[in-house]
Amino acid sequence: MRAVLSKAPGGPETLVVEEVMDPTPGPGEVVIEVKAVGVNYPDALIIADKYQFRPERPFAPGAEVAGVVDAVGEGVKGVFRGDRVVAVPGWGGMVERLKVRAETLIPIPDGMDYETAAAFIMTYGTSYYALKDRANLQPGETLLVLGAAGGVGAAAVELGKAMGARVVAAASTNDKVEFALELGADNGLIYPTGPMDKAAQKALSGEFKLSTGRDGADVVFDGVGGDYAEPALRAMDWNGRYLVVGFPAGIPSLPLNLTLLKSVSVVGVFWGAAVAREPKANAANMAELMQLWKDGKIRPRISRTFPLERAHEAIQTLSERTAVGKIVVKVED
Ligand SMILES: NC(=O)c1ccc[n+]([C@@H]2O[C@H](COP(=O)([O-])OP(=O)(O)OC[C@H]3O[C@@H](n4cnc5c(N)ncnc54)[C@H](OP(=O)(O)O)[C@@H]3O)[C@@H](O)[C@H]2O)c1
Repeated sequence: MRAVLSKAPGGPETLVVEEVMDPTPGPGEVVIEVKAVGVNYPDALIIADKYQFRPERPFAPGAEVAGVVDAVGEGVKGVFRGDRVVAVPGWGGMVERLKVRAETLIPIPDGMDYETAAAFIMTYGTSYYALKDRANLQPGETLLVLGAAGGVGAAAVELGKAMGARVVAAASTNDKVEFALELGADNGLIYPTGPMDKAAQKALSGEFKLSTGRDGADVVFDGVGGDYAEPALRAMDWNGRYLVVGFPAGIPSLPLNLTLLKSVSVVGVFWGAAVAREPKANAANMAELMQLWKDGKIRPRISRTFPLERAHEAIQTLSERTAVGKIVVKVED
Protein backbone atom coordinates (compact mmCIF):
# COMPACT_ATOMS: atom_id res chain seq x y z
CA MET A 1 0.00 0.00 0.00
CA ARG A 2 1.00 3.66 -0.35
CA ALA A 3 1.92 5.70 2.71
CA VAL A 4 2.94 9.33 3.24
CA LEU A 5 6.08 9.11 5.36
CA SER A 6 8.08 11.44 7.56
CA LYS A 7 11.64 10.10 7.51
CA ALA A 8 13.42 13.16 8.94
CA PRO A 9 12.13 16.13 10.97
CA GLY A 10 11.13 19.15 8.88
CA GLY A 11 8.37 20.89 6.96
CA PRO A 12 5.77 19.31 4.64
CA GLU A 13 8.31 19.28 1.79
CA THR A 14 10.23 16.53 3.65
CA LEU A 15 7.34 14.05 3.30
CA VAL A 16 7.64 11.20 0.78
CA VAL A 17 5.09 8.76 -0.63
CA GLU A 18 6.29 5.14 -0.62
CA GLU A 19 5.04 1.59 -0.90
CA VAL A 20 4.98 -0.18 2.48
CA MET A 21 3.69 -3.55 3.71
CA ASP A 22 -0.09 -3.89 4.12
CA PRO A 23 -1.08 -4.18 7.81
CA THR A 24 -2.91 -7.26 9.11
CA PRO A 25 -5.11 -7.07 12.20
CA GLY A 26 -3.99 -8.75 15.42
CA PRO A 27 -6.36 -9.74 18.26
CA GLY A 28 -8.76 -6.87 19.05
CA GLU A 29 -7.68 -4.90 16.00
CA VAL A 30 -9.24 -3.98 12.67
CA VAL A 31 -7.81 -2.72 9.39
CA ILE A 32 -9.60 0.21 7.76
CA GLU A 33 -9.48 0.96 4.05
CA VAL A 34 -8.90 4.70 4.36
CA LYS A 35 -11.08 6.95 2.18
CA ALA A 36 -10.33 10.42 3.58
CA VAL A 37 -7.95 12.01 6.08
CA GLY A 38 -8.67 15.28 7.86
CA VAL A 39 -5.71 17.69 7.96
CA ASN A 40 -5.03 19.44 11.27
CA TYR A 41 -2.31 21.81 12.45
CA PRO A 42 -0.81 19.07 14.67
CA ASP A 43 0.16 17.30 11.39
CA ALA A 44 2.52 20.21 10.64
CA LEU A 45 3.88 20.12 14.19
CA ILE A 46 4.39 16.36 14.51
CA ILE A 47 6.50 16.02 11.32
CA ALA A 48 8.76 18.82 12.60
CA ASP A 49 9.20 17.22 16.06
CA LYS A 50 7.31 20.16 17.58
CA TYR A 51 4.30 18.26 18.95
CA GLN A 52 3.51 16.71 22.34
CA PHE A 53 4.16 13.26 20.81
CA ARG A 54 7.25 12.21 18.85
CA PRO A 55 6.58 8.94 17.04
CA GLU A 56 9.46 6.78 15.91
CA ARG A 57 10.39 7.34 12.22
CA PRO A 58 9.41 6.56 9.62
CA PHE A 59 5.79 7.39 10.44
CA ALA A 60 2.81 8.76 8.53
CA PRO A 61 1.13 11.98 9.71
CA GLY A 62 -2.67 12.11 9.73
CA ALA A 63 -4.55 12.33 13.03
CA GLU A 64 -8.06 11.37 11.90
CA VAL A 65 -9.38 9.17 9.12
CA ALA A 66 -12.67 7.97 7.71
CA GLY A 67 -13.03 4.71 5.83
CA VAL A 68 -14.45 1.19 5.64
CA VAL A 69 -13.55 -1.74 7.87
CA ASP A 70 -11.72 -4.19 5.60
CA ALA A 71 -10.41 -6.88 7.97
CA VAL A 72 -11.33 -7.80 11.54
CA GLY A 73 -8.92 -9.44 14.02
CA GLU A 74 -9.58 -12.26 16.45
CA GLY A 75 -11.92 -11.51 19.34
CA VAL A 76 -13.36 -8.30 17.89
CA LYS A 77 -17.05 -7.97 18.73
CA GLY A 78 -19.62 -5.62 17.21
CA VAL A 79 -17.44 -4.38 14.32
CA PHE A 80 -17.84 -5.93 10.88
CA ARG A 81 -16.22 -5.82 7.46
CA GLY A 82 -17.94 -3.05 5.48
CA ASP A 83 -18.73 -0.82 8.49
CA ARG A 84 -18.20 2.91 7.77
CA VAL A 85 -16.05 4.29 10.56
CA VAL A 86 -13.89 7.13 11.82
CA ALA A 87 -10.66 6.63 13.75
CA VAL A 88 -8.53 9.25 15.50
CA PRO A 89 -5.11 7.59 15.87
CA GLY A 90 -3.23 10.90 16.39
CA TRP A 91 -0.80 10.02 13.61
CA GLY A 92 -0.40 7.27 11.02
CA GLY A 93 -3.55 8.12 9.06
CA MET A 94 -2.13 9.20 5.68
CA VAL A 95 -2.02 5.64 4.34
CA GLU A 96 -4.25 3.42 2.22
CA ARG A 97 -4.91 0.91 4.99
CA LEU A 98 -4.74 1.65 8.71
CA LYS A 99 -4.64 -0.75 11.66
CA VAL A 100 -6.38 0.43 14.86
CA ARG A 101 -7.91 -0.99 18.07
CA ALA A 102 -11.53 -1.91 17.35
CA GLU A 103 -12.89 -0.22 20.49
CA THR A 104 -11.61 3.20 19.36
CA LEU A 105 -13.80 3.30 16.23
CA ILE A 106 -16.67 5.73 15.86
CA PRO A 107 -19.47 4.76 13.43
CA ILE A 108 -20.18 7.27 10.66
CA PRO A 109 -23.85 8.29 10.76
CA ASP A 110 -26.04 7.60 7.71
CA GLY A 111 -25.90 10.50 5.27
CA MET A 112 -22.44 11.72 6.33
CA ASP A 113 -19.85 11.36 3.55
CA TYR A 114 -16.25 10.26 4.17
CA GLU A 115 -14.72 13.73 3.69
CA THR A 116 -17.09 15.27 6.22
CA ALA A 117 -16.49 12.40 8.66
CA ALA A 118 -12.71 12.83 8.35
CA ALA A 119 -13.00 16.56 9.05
CA PHE A 120 -15.36 16.30 12.02
CA ILE A 121 -14.10 14.66 15.20
CA MET A 122 -10.89 16.50 16.08
CA THR A 123 -12.06 20.06 15.53
CA TYR A 124 -15.59 19.79 16.92
CA GLY A 125 -14.40 17.43 19.67
CA THR A 126 -11.76 19.93 20.80
CA SER A 127 -13.93 23.02 20.50
CA TYR A 128 -16.97 21.46 22.20
CA TYR A 129 -14.85 20.18 25.08
CA ALA A 130 -13.31 23.66 25.34
CA LEU A 131 -16.55 25.66 25.25
CA LYS A 132 -18.80 23.27 27.17
CA ASP A 133 -16.60 21.45 29.67
CA ARG A 134 -13.76 23.93 30.22
CA ALA A 135 -15.47 27.33 29.79
CA ASN A 136 -19.06 26.42 30.70
CA LEU A 137 -20.21 28.84 27.98
CA GLN A 138 -23.74 30.12 28.69
CA PRO A 139 -26.47 31.38 26.35
CA GLY A 140 -26.24 35.15 25.95
CA GLU A 141 -22.52 35.30 26.79
CA THR A 142 -20.04 36.89 24.40
CA LEU A 143 -17.46 34.56 22.85
CA LEU A 144 -14.40 35.96 21.08
CA VAL A 145 -12.80 33.41 18.69
CA LEU A 146 -9.24 34.02 17.45
CA GLY A 147 -8.28 32.30 14.18
CA ALA A 148 -12.01 31.99 13.50
CA ALA A 149 -11.60 30.54 9.97
CA GLY A 150 -9.21 27.77 11.02
CA GLY A 151 -10.20 24.22 11.94
CA VAL A 152 -10.88 24.51 15.66
CA GLY A 153 -11.73 28.23 15.31
CA ALA A 154 -14.50 27.69 12.75
CA ALA A 155 -15.86 24.83 14.87
CA ALA A 156 -15.88 27.18 17.89
CA VAL A 157 -17.84 29.78 15.90
CA GLU A 158 -20.53 27.27 14.92
CA LEU A 159 -20.69 25.65 18.34
CA GLY A 160 -20.76 29.04 20.08
CA LYS A 161 -23.82 29.98 18.03
CA ALA A 162 -25.43 26.56 18.62
CA MET A 163 -24.92 27.10 22.38
CA GLY A 164 -26.65 30.48 22.24
CA ALA A 165 -23.63 32.76 22.61
CA ARG A 166 -22.95 36.03 20.81
CA VAL A 167 -19.92 35.22 18.69
CA VAL A 168 -17.22 37.68 17.61
CA ALA A 169 -14.86 36.24 14.98
CA ALA A 170 -11.29 37.51 14.62
CA ALA A 171 -8.97 36.47 11.78
CA SER A 172 -6.10 37.79 9.67
CA THR A 173 -7.79 38.47 6.31
CA ASN A 174 -11.06 39.84 5.04
CA ASP A 175 -11.85 36.50 3.34
CA LYS A 176 -11.36 34.62 6.60
CA VAL A 177 -13.59 37.03 8.54
CA GLU A 178 -16.26 36.82 5.80
CA PHE A 179 -16.06 33.02 6.04
CA ALA A 180 -16.61 33.15 9.82
CA LEU A 181 -19.56 35.51 9.38
CA GLU A 182 -21.07 33.02 6.92
CA LEU A 183 -20.70 30.36 9.61
CA GLY A 184 -22.94 32.50 11.80
CA ALA A 185 -20.63 34.84 13.73
CA ASP A 186 -22.47 38.00 14.82
CA ASN A 187 -19.53 40.32 14.36
CA GLY A 188 -16.01 40.10 12.96
CA LEU A 189 -12.72 41.92 12.83
CA ILE A 190 -9.45 41.60 10.94
CA TYR A 191 -6.24 41.56 12.98
CA PRO A 192 -2.67 42.12 11.71
CA THR A 193 -0.65 39.11 10.47
CA GLY A 194 2.82 39.95 11.69
CA PRO A 195 4.39 40.28 15.13
CA MET A 196 3.01 43.29 17.03
CA ASP A 197 4.81 45.80 19.27
CA LYS A 198 3.15 47.07 22.47
CA ALA A 199 1.37 49.93 20.68
CA ALA A 200 -0.05 47.59 18.04
CA GLN A 201 -1.16 45.15 20.75
CA LYS A 202 -2.88 48.00 22.62
CA ALA A 203 -4.65 49.06 19.43
CA LEU A 204 -5.78 45.47 18.83
CA SER A 205 -7.11 45.24 22.37
CA GLY A 206 -9.17 48.35 21.63
CA GLU A 207 -10.52 46.68 18.47
CA PHE A 208 -11.45 43.57 20.44
CA LYS A 209 -13.29 45.73 23.03
CA LEU A 210 -15.17 47.59 20.31
CA SER A 211 -16.23 44.35 18.62
CA THR A 212 -17.20 42.47 21.78
CA GLY A 213 -19.16 45.39 23.26
CA ARG A 214 -18.77 47.59 26.33
CA ASP A 215 -18.06 44.83 28.86
CA GLY A 216 -15.78 42.69 26.70
CA ALA A 217 -15.71 38.94 26.10
CA ASP A 218 -16.97 36.40 28.63
CA VAL A 219 -15.01 33.66 26.89
CA VAL A 220 -11.96 33.88 24.61
CA PHE A 221 -11.22 30.85 22.42
CA ASP A 222 -7.52 31.15 21.59
CA GLY A 223 -6.24 28.61 19.07
CA VAL A 224 -3.61 31.10 17.83
CA GLY A 225 -1.48 32.42 20.73
CA GLY A 226 1.49 34.70 19.99
CA ASP A 227 1.00 38.47 20.16
CA TYR A 228 -2.78 38.04 19.92
CA ALA A 229 -3.15 36.57 23.41
CA GLU A 230 -2.53 39.58 25.66
CA PRO A 231 -4.77 41.97 23.66
CA ALA A 232 -7.57 39.37 23.89
CA LEU A 233 -7.05 38.91 27.64
CA ARG A 234 -7.22 42.69 28.11
CA ALA A 235 -10.60 42.73 26.33
CA MET A 236 -12.32 40.33 28.75
CA ASP A 237 -15.28 40.87 31.05
CA TRP A 238 -15.54 40.13 34.80
CA ASN A 239 -15.42 36.37 35.52
CA GLY A 240 -14.17 35.68 31.98
CA ARG A 241 -12.69 32.35 30.90
CA TYR A 242 -9.65 32.41 28.61
CA LEU A 243 -9.30 29.11 26.71
CA VAL A 244 -5.72 28.12 25.84
CA VAL A 245 -6.12 25.88 22.78
CA GLY A 246 -3.11 26.26 20.48
CA PHE A 247 -0.11 28.33 19.44
CA PRO A 248 0.49 28.52 15.66
CA ALA A 249 1.58 32.15 16.19
CA GLY A 250 3.88 31.23 19.11
CA ILE A 251 3.58 30.42 22.82
CA PRO A 252 2.57 33.64 24.62
CA SER A 253 3.33 34.80 28.17
CA LEU A 254 0.49 36.55 29.98
CA PRO A 255 0.79 39.20 32.76
CA LEU A 256 -1.12 37.52 35.59
CA ASN A 257 -2.19 40.86 37.10
CA LEU A 258 -4.70 41.10 34.23
CA THR A 259 -6.45 37.94 35.44
CA LEU A 260 -6.74 39.33 38.99
CA LEU A 261 -8.24 42.65 37.86
CA LYS A 262 -11.21 40.98 36.14
CA SER A 263 -11.36 37.66 38.07
CA VAL A 264 -10.51 35.91 34.80
CA SER A 265 -9.67 32.19 34.67
CA VAL A 266 -7.01 31.00 32.23
CA VAL A 267 -8.11 27.50 31.29
CA GLY A 268 -5.96 24.89 29.56
CA VAL A 269 -7.55 22.66 26.89
CA PHE A 270 -5.99 19.31 25.92
CA TRP A 271 -8.77 17.37 24.21
CA GLY A 272 -6.70 14.28 23.33
CA ALA A 273 -5.68 13.75 26.96
CA ALA A 274 -9.24 14.40 28.15
CA VAL A 275 -10.53 11.70 25.76
CA ALA A 276 -8.10 9.19 27.28
CA ARG A 277 -8.90 10.20 30.87
CA GLU A 278 -12.66 10.67 30.54
CA PRO A 279 -13.86 8.38 27.73
CA LYS A 280 -17.49 8.37 28.90
CA ALA A 281 -17.69 12.17 28.92
CA ASN A 282 -16.14 12.22 25.45
CA ALA A 283 -18.62 9.63 24.16
CA ALA A 284 -21.48 11.79 25.48
CA ASN A 285 -20.01 14.86 23.75
CA MET A 286 -19.62 12.90 20.49
CA ALA A 287 -23.28 11.85 20.63
CA GLU A 288 -24.30 15.48 21.18
CA LEU A 289 -22.08 16.63 18.28
CA MET A 290 -23.59 14.02 15.95
CA GLN A 291 -27.05 15.27 16.95
CA LEU A 292 -26.01 18.89 16.25
CA TRP A 293 -24.81 17.73 12.81
CA LYS A 294 -28.11 15.89 12.16
CA ASP A 295 -29.99 19.05 13.19
CA GLY A 296 -27.95 21.04 10.65
CA LYS A 297 -26.35 23.24 13.32
CA ILE A 298 -22.74 22.29 12.55
CA ARG A 299 -21.13 21.30 9.26
CA PRO A 300 -17.40 21.15 8.45
CA ARG A 301 -16.66 23.48 5.52
CA ILE A 302 -14.13 21.64 3.34
CA SER A 303 -12.51 24.26 1.14
CA ARG A 304 -9.94 22.02 -0.63
CA THR A 305 -9.12 18.35 -1.08
CA PHE A 306 -5.79 16.82 -2.16
CA PRO A 307 -4.90 13.30 -3.34
CA LEU A 308 -2.55 11.20 -1.17
CA GLU A 309 0.45 11.99 -3.46
CA ARG A 310 -0.01 15.70 -2.67
CA ALA A 311 -0.65 15.34 1.06
CA HIS A 312 2.41 17.52 1.73
CA GLU A 313 0.67 20.40 -0.10
CA ALA A 314 -2.41 19.89 2.05
CA ILE A 315 -0.35 20.27 5.24
CA GLN A 316 1.49 23.21 3.65
CA THR A 317 -1.74 25.23 3.38
CA LEU A 318 -2.02 25.10 7.17
CA SER A 319 1.62 25.87 7.90
CA GLU A 320 1.51 28.76 5.38
CA ARG A 321 -1.66 30.12 7.02
CA THR A 322 -3.63 30.05 3.76
CA ALA A 323 -6.22 27.38 4.64
CA VAL A 324 -9.81 28.47 5.14
CA GLY A 325 -12.06 25.99 6.92
CA LYS A 326 -11.04 22.33 6.58
CA ILE A 327 -8.57 20.67 4.22
CA VAL A 328 -8.95 16.94 3.47
CA VAL A 329 -6.70 14.36 1.81
CA LYS A 330 -8.73 11.93 -0.31
CA VAL A 331 -7.36 8.44 -0.76
CA GLU A 332 -8.28 7.23 -4.24
CA ASP A 333 -8.90 3.54 -4.98
N1 LIG B 1 -5.78 21.87 22.66
C1 LIG B 1 -6.19 20.85 21.93
O1 LIG B 1 -6.69 19.86 22.42
C2 LIG B 1 -6.04 20.97 20.44
C3 LIG B 1 -6.67 20.11 19.55
C4 LIG B 1 -6.53 20.33 18.18
C5 LIG B 1 -5.73 21.38 17.73
N2 LIG B 1 -5.09 22.14 18.64
C6 LIG B 1 -4.24 23.27 18.26
O2 LIG B 1 -5.06 24.31 17.79
C7 LIG B 1 -4.34 25.10 16.86
C8 LIG B 1 -5.15 25.25 15.59
O3 LIG B 1 -5.27 23.98 14.97
P1 LIG B 1 -6.13 23.82 13.62
O4 LIG B 1 -6.01 22.40 13.20
O5 LIG B 1 -7.46 24.44 13.82
O6 LIG B 1 -5.23 24.72 12.63
P2 LIG B 1 -5.63 25.64 11.37
O7 LIG B 1 -6.85 25.10 10.72
O8 LIG B 1 -4.40 25.78 10.59
O9 LIG B 1 -6.00 27.02 12.06
C9 LIG B 1 -5.04 27.77 12.76
C10 LIG B 1 -5.29 29.25 12.59
O10 LIG B 1 -4.23 29.91 13.31
C11 LIG B 1 -4.00 31.17 12.73
N3 LIG B 1 -2.55 31.47 12.70
C12 LIG B 1 -1.97 32.50 13.34
N4 LIG B 1 -0.66 32.52 13.13
C13 LIG B 1 -0.38 31.47 12.34
C14 LIG B 1 0.81 30.96 11.77
N5 LIG B 1 1.99 31.55 11.98
N6 LIG B 1 0.74 29.85 10.99
C15 LIG B 1 -0.44 29.24 10.77
N7 LIG B 1 -1.63 29.68 11.28
C16 LIG B 1 -1.59 30.79 12.06
C17 LIG B 1 -4.62 31.14 11.32
O11 LIG B 1 -5.68 32.07 11.34
P3 LIG B 1 -5.43 33.63 11.02
O12 LIG B 1 -4.60 33.71 9.78
O13 LIG B 1 -6.80 34.13 10.86
O14 LIG B 1 -4.72 34.16 12.24
C18 LIG B 1 -5.21 29.74 11.16
O15 LIG B 1 -6.48 29.77 10.55
C19 LIG B 1 -3.00 24.38 16.65
O16 LIG B 1 -2.02 24.98 17.47
C20 LIG B 1 -3.28 22.97 17.12
O17 LIG B 1 -2.12 22.31 17.56
C21 LIG B 1 -5.22 21.97 19.96
